[in-house]
Amino acid sequence: MDGQRVERLQEEAGQKGLDCMALVPGANLFYLTGLSFHLSERPVVGLFPVDRPPAIVLPGLEAPKLEQAACEFTPYPYSDEEGPALAFHQACATLELAEARIGVEGLRMRLMEVRYLERYAPGCQLVPADEVTAALRMVKDEGELDLMRRATAVAEVALHNLFDQLRAGMTEREVAGLLMVELLRAGGEGMPFQPIVVAGPNAASPHSTPSDRPIRPGDLVVVDCGATVGGYASDITRTVGIGSPPEEMAQVYAVVHEANAAGRAAAGPGVAAQEVDRAARAVIAAAGYGEFFIHRTGHGLGLEGHEPPYIVAGNEMPLRSGMTFTVEPGVYLPGKGGVRIEDDVVITPQGAESLTNFPRELILL
Ligand code: CO
Ligand code: CO
Repeated sequence: MDGQRVERLQEEAGQKGLDCMALVPGANLFYLTGLSFHLSERPVVGLFPVDRPPAIVLPGLEAPKLEQAACEFTPYPYSDEEGPALAFHQACATLELAEARIGVEGLRMRLMEVRYLERYAPGCQLVPADEVTAALRMVKDEGELDLMRRATAVAEVALHNLFDQLRAGMTEREVAGLLMVELLRAGGEGMPFQPIVVAGPNAASPHSTPSDRPIRPGDLVVVDCGATVGGYASDITRTVGIGSPPEEMAQVYAVVHEANAAGRAAAGPGVAAQEVDRAARAVIAAAGYGEFFIHRTGHGLGLEGHEPPYIVAGNEMPLRSGMTFTVEPGVYLPGKGGVRIEDDVVITPQGAESLTNFPRELILL
């Protein structure tokens, strides 16, 4: 964490013709300042003008946190009794934000913050500028990669310990509960998302939630989980069999396994993101399951569980050394089941390295 990140933000925003960036609690504000705030009914807005030091509107009770910030802020605190209006008014007036072009997080800022800015920076133009912060965060430095390696190690230890306990007769929900315990026990500070444990026909939907259905012999169980360490996420999926699966599902497993390898092999510096998707998809299509691979091949990973770059047809962005993302092809057969194998990779100067190393061959429990 260093103050240089703010300078890079100011540079990027300036190049986009913006006068200021306004950020709400979340990954971007954390990346720039090292500070975590709640996105709650008490608004917090960090204001980063391109040509002067940053300011922040925040509840007074949060103000002591600023001593730990990686950059110097002019604070505009407010109390619960007075509310945030005056603080927004003073911050916007001091930073001369009237008529300014202000970059905001289109995916995150709420109407509440929009209304305060529009009211106290009259004539301002709020411009979605998610690509400005994405440009800073997509390439990870060594410190960030170290945290991501630790986050993947935690998830792999948890998976290993879970598979030692997983038996027919347990419900999906019960297994998901065990997995959460194992993720924390292995050193996870938290989870970027609730673990997915779905078995048999329930696994035919990529994002279904764990149910009370007991896991049965012959089921394939899709287990998708992650841990956070130092704010950075891992995201890994393995599909295991409770005894031997039906012939067709075993065949699907082999296809997805090959697609995962093809996707990882295609990744490298200078390669367009969509080429990774194309490589994985080609394997599945050639095996006749193309219509059952119903999502993109992957997503960027870092402070957020889903972030750029997206590994999807149409994304021509060249991958660069230090970018981190998932490769997670899957095949979902309605009424029968599903298979997904997900790894986290980092682009290196020579190609791509998998941060996840858990065995990819079908494990039968
Ligand atoms: Co996942
Ligand atoms: Co994922």
